[in-house]
Amino acid sequence: MSVASVKGVRDLLPGEAERWQAAELVARAVFRAYGFAEIRIPIIESNELFVRSVGEATDIVEKEMFTFPDRHGELLCLRPEGTAPVVRAFIENKLYATDPVAKLFYIGPMFRYERPQRGRYRQFHQIGAEVLGVAEPLLDAEVLEMVVHLVGRLGVTGVELQLNSLGDARCRPAFLTALQGFLRSVRAELCGDCHRRLEVNPLRVLDCKNEGCQAVLARAPLVSEALCAECRAHYEAVKAYLRQQGVAFVEHPRLVRGLDYYVRTAFELVATTGLGAKNEVAAGGRYDGLVRDLGGPDVPGMGFAIGMERLMALLPEGSSEPAQPFLFVASVGQTGEAAWRLLTELRHEGVPAEAGYEGKSLKSQLRRAHKLGALYVAILGEDELNAGQITLRDMKAQRQDAVPLARARQEIVARWASR
Ligand code: HAM
Repeated sequence: MSVASVKGVRDLLPGEAERWQAAELVARAVFRAYGFAEIRIPIIESNELFVRSVGEATDIVEKEMFTFPDRHGELLCLRPEGTAPVVRAFIENKLYATDPVAKLFYIGPMFRYERPQRGRYRQFHQIGAEVLGVAEPLLDAEVLEMVVHLVGRLGVTGVELQLNSLGDARCRPAFLTALQGFLRSVRAELCGDCHRRLEVNPLRVLDCKNEGCQAVLARAPLVSEALCAECRAHYEAVKAYLRQQGVAFVEHPRLVRGLDYYVRTAFELVATTGLGAKNEVAAGGRYDGLVRDLGGPDVPGMGFAIGMERLMALLPEGSSEPAQPFLFVASVGQTGEAAWRLLTELRHEGVPAEAGYEGKSLKSQLRRAHKLGALYVAILGEDELNAGQITLRDMKAQRQDAVPLARARQEIVARWASR
């Protein structure tokens, strides 16, 4: 019996992998244009990192973490998201000591034990970015402009930027008290999870996925109506900058996000068509207290992550052919050694080249070359080779020339360069 993959994970096969690479290349170019540098963070982290950042009473930490003890009993996990690891790395490597502003991006897999469905996986991938060290609302607008541009540049049309402000340490406590009061008054109508959360972390009740709860929550007080003067001014400034830049957005007063670290600006980029229920392509916001809470200096932060599976589902199919060889080397008779040498030399020059592995007939090797989509075939036959020549066949033009073996490499490299 064969062994199947784990539930909720996917193989990216040749063809699809090339489409992902192309998208990643576009993302890298955009990040470079906006001054972001790549950071590669580990896939395993201490479990505590996410308990202290994403939050103990969130779905992610309560239900969705791949947590396991290592051989000494230390509790580790597969990272469910990238913000907390980036902040950990920022603190641990004292990045703030070299530059007061860090603009970092990452691309890689994340893991959440969710119920798999279309657009929701247990291993999924994010293209994320974080800016540490800038408190001004101009940055929020810059990051939002960038994510909208990036998603558009990748080829996605039909997204809506939904925006809200969640307040901060000054105004949120009063809001939470009001919210808790409301939730207690409707307690009987809420699910079991919400009963517990309304005491521990009332904000999390607002993103309960239970439909019964959602109906009751439509009457709950709004965080965006409880903002202090500073948070209100920040939010107004973000919106004004977005308007100046012509970035369209929709205010969404019930948007709270499912992670605890957000303050002030929070947003989701939602596909208006093409994704079905799981329609957030990207999401993020500001997290000003997080660096301090994780043991670093009091440095503000803001960022986002794009879900790659959802992004790719929105892109036109396009060409998804795996990379083709430029040249196929066909060896006929006892010419294997020379064929292999030519093949290796060309590969060292960067020419994508393939060869057959068994001593098959020329006809069958040409068939293989055609199937692979090779543009040229170098045919090494015994008699020709003895005369110091090879045959170079142009598969498209159906023409072939004799080329001196000594010049074959040069000739093929030149054709590759001028393709
Ligand atoms: P998040 O909203 O949890 O935020 O995830 C961001 C994006 O990842 C989602 O909008 C979605 O496209 C994708 N995503 C999440 N879970 C899954 C899943 N199970 N399957 C497929 N795609 C998924 C964060 O992760 C924050 N770290 C974003 C951020 C960065 N905030 C500030 N900086």
